[in-house]
Amino acid sequence: MRKTIVAGLLIGAFSVLSAGEFDAQANKDLKALKEYMEKKFATRKGAESYFPYTPKEELDKNFKWGLKGDDFRLGSYAYNKNGKEQYDEMNEMPPYEDNIDAGEELYKNTKFKNGKSFKDCFPDPAIKGEYPKFVKGKGVVTLADAINACLKENGEKPWDMAKGKMADLEAFFAHASKEKGKRYHIVINSKEAAAAYEDGKKIYYSQRGYLKLSCANCHVQGAGKRVRNEYLSPLYGQVTHFPVYRLAWEELGTLQRRIKGCEKNQGETTHKLDSKWMRDLIYFLTYMSNGLPVDGPDIRK
Ligand code: HEC
Repeated sequence: MRKTIVAGLLIGAFSVLSAGEFDAQANKDLKALKEYMEKKFATRKGAESYFPYTPKEELDKNFKWGLKGDDFRLGSYAYNKNGKEQYDEMNEMPPYEDNIDAGEELYKNTKFKNGKSFKDCFPDPAIKGEYPKFVKGKGVVTLADAINACLKENGEKPWDMAKGKMADLEAFFAHASKEKGKRYHIVINSKEAAAAYEDGKKIYYSQRGYLKLSCANCHVQGAGKRVRNEYLSPLYGQVTHFPVYRLAWEELGTLQRRIKGCEKNQGETTHKLDSKWMRDLIYFLTYMSNGLPVDGPDIRK
């Protein structure tokens, strides 16, 4: 009897220990990334070492310095003063309000043919900060994957993951999470989950396409630099605000859709929005915003 209790306690202690270890590498990565970005955008002094090709006048006048933690949820508007002014103006009449309402309608008042609704799958709508999740046997499940799984389980047709109803329902989930002050809390608690994270990280750092660019070239080393008219957003905090209303799209779209656009910029053939490639990548990306506030939906150029 006593032996069993001791063995039970030991197994309990062991699993607690290892649950903490599966995310050790990811936490180390996140800490290093945050430190790098905070240092890069700390002061005007010495900025030339990070931005050797940016005109001095731009560094003097258009950059905001001293960025910390939550500031990074704004993407490039965290440091780009002119961009931030335009952004504030656009947000006076947010173009995504109707999307939040449409999402709320889908959540609260829309029944499936079997009489059930999204509420049966997602009793609490303030869940944006918990996705993606790693589910044994399924792999990484993004919020869009979970929404489509809910539809299929209830005999409904899955939605396009790029826009439309998918973006609307995500907008409502994001809004509900923001209202409750939720932060990103992505969990890695198994060997398989850690492997999916590592896969996403590998995708992020590998050079692809005929341009031989990696995502990191533009959004880690390149963060703060300018490509033509666009200031590059930092990986840290980059996905806090999705789904996003893009002026270029003139409508709301999902993170999957945005990533597809960047793949094209990279000179790469694109991946399916629900592929393992996309899901693992989003797991890594969102982990790199862990601890930051859910800030969506929002506007970007
Ligand atoms: C050639 C440079 C380049 C590469 C490579 C690149 N991007 Fe981008 N990306 C941009 C530009 C330019 C924008 C728009 C300005 C901004 O917000 O950074 C952007 C925007 C984004 C955004 C939206 C940011 C926001 O605030 O809304 C995400 C997310 C993103 N990229 C992810 C990726 C991922 C993932 C990869 C790799 C698959 C990648 N990018 C590769 C140039 C690049």
